[in-house]
Amino acid sequence: MKKEEFKDPVDQVPVTFRTMQLRDLDQVTELEKAIFPTPWSKESFRWEVEENRYSYPFVLVKNNQVIGFIIVWQMVNELHIANIAIDPQYRRRGMASHMLETLFFWAIGNGVREAHLEVRSSNRSAIDLYKKFNFFEVGVRKNYYQAENEDALLMSCILVKEKHPLETECLCSGFNV
Ligand SMILES: CC(C)(COP(=O)(O)OP(=O)(O)OC[C@H]1O[C@@H](n2cnc3c(N)ncnc32)[C@H](O)[C@@H]1OP(=O)(O)O)[C@@H](O)C(=O)NCCC(=O)NCCS
Repeated sequence: MKKEEFKDPVDQVPVTFRTMQLRDLDQVTELEKAIFPTPWSKESFRWEVEENRYSYPFVLVKNNQVIGFIIVWQMVNELHIANIAIDPQYRRRGMASHMLETLFFWAIGNGVREAHLEVRSSNRSAIDLYKKFNFFEVGVRKNYYQAENEDALLMSCILVKEKHPLETECLCSGFNV
């Protein structure tokens, strides 16, 4: 994983992006429960950390507190974003963007060429985040979230190397490149 110092823009306290460990699971599960209507269990996160060999789980940590996480599955040259969340009190500070930028930089170096995900059709903030990273809508799974009778949008992007203003060397790009 590329190490690059990142600070909370509000108070300039350093924020670390690192691999999720077993010791993070209580905080991760607590955050998950506070955010999602049908949260993953602690056992699901443990499985991602310890057993799923396709899984790369990461946390974002500030002052020893987990303030965000992302879990991706790599299958050969494809990346699937399985879960991503930022603590509500730290949103709109570029935290999720930092995780995705760092992750995509690492993923390209790891042979990944495409990224895919599913998102609730009503989840405006997540859809806008993904569009900012040039994800395209490629399909719809009707009534995928059955409890809420809600569709899932399928979004994808091609990962390419390109110079980014922050001097990282990759970002997502659309299918038309
Ligand atoms: C989606 C989520 C991860 C975004 O995290 P974040 O750290 O606030 O995102 P960033 O600050 O990096 O924002 C990046 C871009 O996303 C979009 N965005 C983020 N929050 C938004 C909101 N509330 N409304 C509209 N656009 C939003 C914007 O385009 C934003 O760029 P800008 O700030 O330059 O306008 C966060 O809102 C979250 O945890 N949501 C709940 C969990 C979730 O829905 N996960 C996705 C499941 S598919």
